[in-house]
Amino acid sequence: MSEFNIVVTAGDGIGPEVVDEGVKVLDAIARKFDHKINYDYQLIGGISIDKYGSALTPEVLKKCRKADAVLLGAVGGPRWDNPNAATRLEDGLLALRKGLALYANLRPVKVLDMLANHTTLKAEVVKGVDMMVIRELTGGLYFGRPKRRYTTSKGRRGVDTMAYSEQEIARIVKVGFELARNRRKKLMSVDKANVLESSRLWRQVVVEISKDYPDIALEHVLVDTCAMRLIQNPKAIDVIVTENTFGDILTDEASVLAGSMGMLPSASLAGIPSPGSRVNGLYEPIHGSAPTIAGQNIANPIATILTVAMMLRYSFALEREAKTIEEAVLAALNEGYRTQDIMSEGMKKIGTKEMGDLVAAKILR
Ligand code: IPM
Ligand code: MG
Repeated sequence: MSEFNIVVTAGDGIGPEVVDEGVKVLDAIARKFDHKINYDYQLIGGISIDKYGSALTPEVLKKCRKADAVLLGAVGGPRWDNPNAATRLEDGLLALRKGLALYANLRPVKVLDMLANHTTLKAEVVKGVDMMVIRELTGGLYFGRPKRRYTTSKGRRGVDTMAYSEQEIARIVKVGFELARNRRKKLMSVDKANVLESSRLWRQVVVEISKDYPDIALEHVLVDTCAMRLIQNPKAIDVIVTENTFGDILTDEASVLAGSMGMLPSASLAGIPSPGSRVNGLYEPIHGSAPTIAGQNIANPIATILTVAMMLRYSFALEREAKTIEEAVLAALNEGYRTQDIMSEGMKKIGTKEMGDLVAAKILR
């Protein structure tokens, strides 16, 4: 038996609802495979601003640091949307990423056959899509200095800085090569080397590191071209590695392929994941807090449930348990059960809780 300590930061909107289902599924795994999982519930996001005046308190950050993994729901809502506010919601999330040194954000996009008809693209374009986007998460425009708004004699100015050190580039690029090795052995490094200095350094470092990975087919693609290829021929893409802002934008685009944001998990890691080893991580569905549907038992918990599978795989080195969850989700979908966001004719519509119950039951069967 193994024992794990998880900090759960459910956050705002639908966060608490989907996290409940993720925990339900984790409990089913613990029961089936005889593990012990301890949960420590903490506040993050708007709910933390309301209570403590800060989206992430130092105490919570400290607890997250000590935990084996952090499970996060979602943060945000119209109530905290003021661009001039002194404390911004997003700062909590960014402080958590930086505070835990989570430089590698893994966003897998897998289109399940039964949902291939569900997107705005043609089914034949998205059917079979199975890619992993790796986004650098603690550098670039998000954290570069100077970063400020100020007033000059000619008026107001705002500045952000895109800066990367070779060490920052090297460690994220290695994650790309390593993950490609266990997949279809294709790595697309995405940059804007025709314009940006940081991208020119990025490309140089990628080429240097590629010498250690002769078995991986490497391609350099400009970010604008990548945006196009993502919807033109997404099936051809295996692993993408890119810097923070490009990764943010491209993963929203890529999420469309899967039919619903409610299907997509993510992991943010403090090291290179490899089979059999454990790396610290923060796990969250890629969707937001969806305040308009909060509290109605209609949100899709599958993204969070698949997120929990990633936690088992990367932070606990429990591959068999992770697969068990993924298979249980597939089984529920194959039987025609759908939440509202992925509902189509002839399918059986169920709620957030019912989907969680169903997946948990399939695990324990
Ligand atoms: C994401 C989100 C965040 C980001 C926001 C909420 C700060 O868009 O996780 O992709 O830009 O990183
Ligand atoms: Mg984003």
